[in-house]
Amino acid sequence: MTTQCTNTQHRLYQLIGQLPKTELHLHIEGTLEPELMFALAQRNQVTLPYASIDELRAAYDFHNLQSFLDLYYAGAAVLLTEQDFYDLTWAYLQKAHDDNIVHTEIFFDPQTHTLRGVPFAIVYQGIRRALDEAQAQWGLSSRLIFSFLRHLTEQEGFDVLEQAMPFLQGIDGFGLDSSEKGHPPAKFERLFKRCQELNLPCVAHAGEEGPAAYVMDALHLLNVKRIDHGVRSLENAELVRQLVAEQIPLTVCPLSNIRLKVFTTMQEHPLKQMLDMGLLVTINSDDPAYFGGYVNDNFKACTTALNLSDQDIVQLAKNSFIASWLSDAEKARQLAEIDQIWQAWKLAD
Ligand code: HPA
Ligand code: ZN
Repeated sequence: MTTQCTNTQHRLYQLIGQLPKTELHLHIEGTLEPELMFALAQRNQVTLPYASIDELRAAYDFHNLQSFLDLYYAGAAVLLTEQDFYDLTWAYLQKAHDDNIVHTEIFFDPQTHTLRGVPFAIVYQGIRRALDEAQAQWGLSSRLIFSFLRHLTEQEGFDVLEQAMPFLQGIDGFGLDSSEKGHPPAKFERLFKRCQELNLPCVAHAGEEGPAAYVMDALHLLNVKRIDHGVRSLENAELVRQLVAEQIPLTVCPLSNIRLKVFTTMQEHPLKQMLDMGLLVTINSDDPAYFGGYVNDNFKACTTALNLSDQDIVQLAKNSFIASWLSDAEKARQLAEIDQIWQAWKLAD
C-alpha cells in the first residue's frame, strides 16, 4: 500500500470515528465476549465445553447461519441473573459509546432465556437498567426490540408474548430472527398481526440466507417497515424497485455476512452497489462478539474492501438516523450535525 493510499484510509477512518451514528441491528446476546462468557460461567458455576478463551474463540469458525446459532444459543446459557443481563448490556453500550453510536435499537431474544427457566422479568430488567443508565450518563438513547425465534412455533411466540405483557411500556417493537431457511414469514402472520394491534412497529430478518420472496412476504404478510439484512433482495428486480420507491430500510451487517458465508469475501459484498441503487442501507454489527467487529469495524472493513468515499460514509451515517425510530426533529438535528462534522473534516485536510 502506498503512503498516499494509507493516508487516505487513515483520514476516512478518522471520519468514521467522528461521525455520530445509530445501530439498528444488534442482538444483545451476540455481544457476549468470550472473556465475559467465562467470567459469568465462573460466577454462576456453569460448565462450558471449552478449556480456555482461546479454545472458545477457535470454535468461531462458522460455515453458515445454523452453525453460528448453535454456539450462540449455547453461550447464552451463562446468563442467569438480572446482574448478568445488566453486565452484558452495559459492556455493549460502552463499546457503542466508544464508536460514537448515539442511538441504538437492540434486539433481545426472550425465548432463549424463558425456555431454560429464566423469568422474562429478570432478562428485561437487567437490560433495561443498563439502557437507562447509558441514557443518563451519555445521552445515548435506545429502543428495545423483542425478537421471536422463528425455528419455534407460532404458538410458542404467543406464549412468550403473554409473559411480556406486564412490561410492554418498556418494549418498543417486535422482530423475528434465528434459522431463516424453512421458516418463512407466513408462519408468523397471526402473531405479527397481534403485535401490530399492540401499536408497536415490527421488523423481521429476511433475505439473509432465505430468498428474496421472504423479504416480500415479510413486507406484505407481516407488514414490517424495516428489513434486517435483506441482501438477497438483489435477486429480484421488482422487489428492489419497491424497496427503493418506498425507502424501506435494510439493516445490513457486512462482517456477519462474510463470517456466515453469505458472501465469500468483503470485496464481493454488495453494500456499495446497494447504496448506489438508492436503497436505504445501513451498516450494523449483528453479533459483534462472534463476527469480529463492532460498528466502526464494519465501516472500516467496507471502506477498505469496497473503496467507499467520504460521501458514501456520510450517506451511511445519515441513513442510520433516517432508518431509525427517532422523531423527525431529532433526525433533522443529527443530519445537520453530520454535515457540520463532514465540512470540518474536509477543511482539516
Ligand atoms: N440471523 C438470524 N438470527 C440471528 C442472527 C442472524 O444474523 N443473529 C442472532 N440471531
Ligand atoms: Zn441479526
